[in-house]
Amino acid sequence: MQYLRNVWYVAAWDDEVASEALVQRTLLNESILLFRDEENQPHAIANRCPHRFAPLHLGKRVIGGVQCPYHGLQFNGQGQCIHNPQGAIPKAAVVRSYPLVEKYSMLWIWMGEPEQADPSKIPDFSCQDPNESYVAKRYLHVKANYVLETDNILDLSHIQFLHPGSLGSSAVASAITSVEQQGNTVISKRQTVGDILPEFLYRQRRIPVGTPVDRWIDVRWDAPASMLLEAGSVATGNPRNEGVSNFIAHIFTPETDTTSHYWYSVCNPLSTGDEGRDRAEAFVTGLTQPFRDEDLPMLEAQQQMIGEAEFWSLKPVLLAGDAGAVRARRVLDKMLAEERDLIAST
Ligand code: FES
Ligand SMILES: [Fe+2]
Repeated sequence: MQYLRNVWYVAAWDDEVASEALVQRTLLNESILLFRDEENQPHAIANRCPHRFAPLHLGKRVIGGVQCPYHGLQFNGQGQCIHNPQGAIPKAAVVRSYPLVEKYSMLWIWMGEPEQADPSKIPDFSCQDPNESYVAKRYLHVKANYVLETDNILDLSHIQFLHPGSLGSSAVASAITSVEQQGNTVISKRQTVGDILPEFLYRQRRIPVGTPVDRWIDVRWDAPASMLLEAGSVATGNPRNEGVSNFIAHIFTPETDTTSHYWYSVCNPLSTGDEGRDRAEAFVTGLTQPFRDEDLPMLEAQQQMIGEAEFWSLKPVLLAGDAGAVRARRVLDKMLAEERDLIAST
């Protein structure tokens, strides 16, 4: 499978890589080592020692870098060998390093051409800025291709069937939906009227349980699979600005062709204090049950049915609710083709 290279992927939550920790994570079929130096700067380098190919994450953090567990070569965050216990440093003792940026409570990795790694191209997840918001963070591992996850988030018509007891309601079928595209960004909007919510959402939105509500979920997608939802509700008949909404992030990075990393969060502004923090944690905990117990088994079952086949080669039937997901797939395919052309022309 070809992956988009010149794009920012999430590699980890900021706190998944603690100081002194050596974190191994497979991203785009490559084993990557994530670690922080003594100044707390995060780094990403290839995890395979160039001597006898030991995994560096089994070694240890040393001043200036990491030490291979096997014969003790040391590498810094730029992938250069900084110490050979047996003498001079061989020229070939170098591992690939990847641009890595800590932003919006996440570590973003660039696995394409390093000179094109422009941090301003990281999509706006400022709702996760730790200086502004409390971020309730979660991670799941998914045994399915990452684009199936994009389909899942951009086509929320599934909540009526897959999540009847937790997120769905019978109003979903009559939702008003729209899709728009701004450059390579896809925005998919969904609104239901007279909806009855699960109890935990009433508590989140501070609306009396059982009140019919107008409920909206607006999703912004950026390649490769970075999605930000603004989800809110207001008692039916009232304007949106009298309701309560939250930002919810869903971000996926391919681990392999058929497995993915999944990071999601709920944020509340720091000004909401302990109550806002507790509410964000309760919300993300409430969402985890349907994500983990209902979406993941479906995604994994889909992947098993698809096997190694290319998605479009199976000629999927298209339904009205697919508009956002299909648009995102088209944009992703266009960006992949552009990268292929660029590589072919150089
Ligand atoms: S395998 Fe790393 S130093 Fe030998
Ligand atoms: Fe779902």
